[in-house]
Amino acid sequence: MQQTCLSNHVLGKATMARGGDHIFSVALDFGTTYSGFAYSSTSDFQNRPDKIYTNEAWNSGGQGLLSHKTPTVLLLTSNKKFEAFGYEAENLYADLALDGLHKDRYYFRRYKMKLHGDKRIHENTMIEDESGKPLPALLVFKFSIKYLKDKFFEILNKQGLDIKNSEIMWTLTVPAIWCESAKSFMRKAAVEAGICCEQLKLSLEPEAASLLCQHIPIEKTETGLSVADVGTKYMVIDLGGGTADITVHEKLSHGKLKEIHKASGGPWGGTAVDEGFIQLLVRIVGGPVITRFRKEFTADYLEMMREFEVSKRTLDPHKDSSFKVRVPPTLSQVCEAETDEDLSSLVNEKNSPYAGKLRVMADKLIIERKLMMEIF
Ligand SMILES: Nc1ncnc2c1ncn2[C@@H]1O[C@H](COP(=O)(O)OP(=O)(O)OP(=O)(O)O)[C@@H](O)[C@H]1O
Ligand SMILES: [Mg+2]
Repeated sequence: MQQTCLSNHVLGKATMARGGDHIFSVALDFGTTYSGFAYSSTSDFQNRPDKIYTNEAWNSGGQGLLSHKTPTVLLLTSNKKFEAFGYEAENLYADLALDGLHKDRYYFRRYKMKLHGDKRIHENTMIEDESGKPLPALLVFKFSIKYLKDKFFEILNKQGLDIKNSEIMWTLTVPAIWCESAKSFMRKAAVEAGICCEQLKLSLEPEAASLLCQHIPIEKTETGLSVADVGTKYMVIDLGGGTADITVHEKLSHGKLKEIHKASGGPWGGTAVDEGFIQLLVRIVGGPVITRFRKEFTADYLEMMREFEVSKRTLDPHKDSSFKVRVPPTLSQVCEAETDEDLSSLVNEKNSPYAGKLRVMADKLIIERKLMMEIF
């Protein structure tokens, strides 16, 4: 596999060490739901391979939380010019939607999964934004990768470091289960984003994680913790937003790894849970209500999905509590307009297959734990 930096059977030293005479190695993690990057200098890597830096200053705004990654969300102007990415794009689009000014913009989210399983993806492939407006996929991926690249330089500049693009080895991670055409599409988008082909390596996401594990002390010894012994066989399961990627490796000597089983997985990421929640709503209130709600009350729809994201993360499979998510009153308004019944009556309908499993209390939809686990 020429396009990935790791061969199929015996994997080389960690991605970060492949910089050669480059001063910095930068790894771009383009995720389905969240994206970010990590970097290390070649000299740091030689002394402390686990000394890797990330941008810890992505700020969601709302709750003021700082995180290592930012949402994979791209906002373009009506003239197809870059406007914002990540939390900034989410917040700006929600604000524009409140004033009804969002309709001409291009708003893309969760577009990485469009490449999954599409063997015919090519440079003229089109993808649709949230409102159905088409644009070349290459442009959308180019803008996203360029944003991450520019953000890295911005951070270096803030630290007073004057590193040139030619002094950097870039790595772009891709799901292990992607087909070759999706991988070469990503490579093309990175080149369009201003990364020189000779300075770019693609790396499989779970393999990159596996290589990092070589440098993290996890084995208990009498004197503390140490890195795993040569001969250790292990499985890495990367549960992402779009895909679950699984690899099984054996640790060899001299920092090498052997592939015990071919990388596998499927489209079983966290976004499938979000989709399951939307499908549940569609079954209760009907598709036209959800479509109209998304279109006419975009800001409320986005807020509801943000609330769902927060609630989803607090679900504890070992606790017998029900799942609560706040639903905006405008959803009930659209229900009434489309069906003459409000949300509460639709949920409580006698013949509903969800009788007893769902209820509405004040502004919350309460989902019985078992039903929520089924969605998972
Ligand atoms: N505590 C949690 N419980 C359930 N789901 C969670 C939790 N924390 C995060 N998630 C989900 O995990 C996903 C984000 O994981 P991650 O950042 O690894 O994905 P990604 O890199 O964007 O996607 P991929 O690697 O598949 O392209 C989101 O769908 C998020 O809702
Ligand atoms: Mg990921």
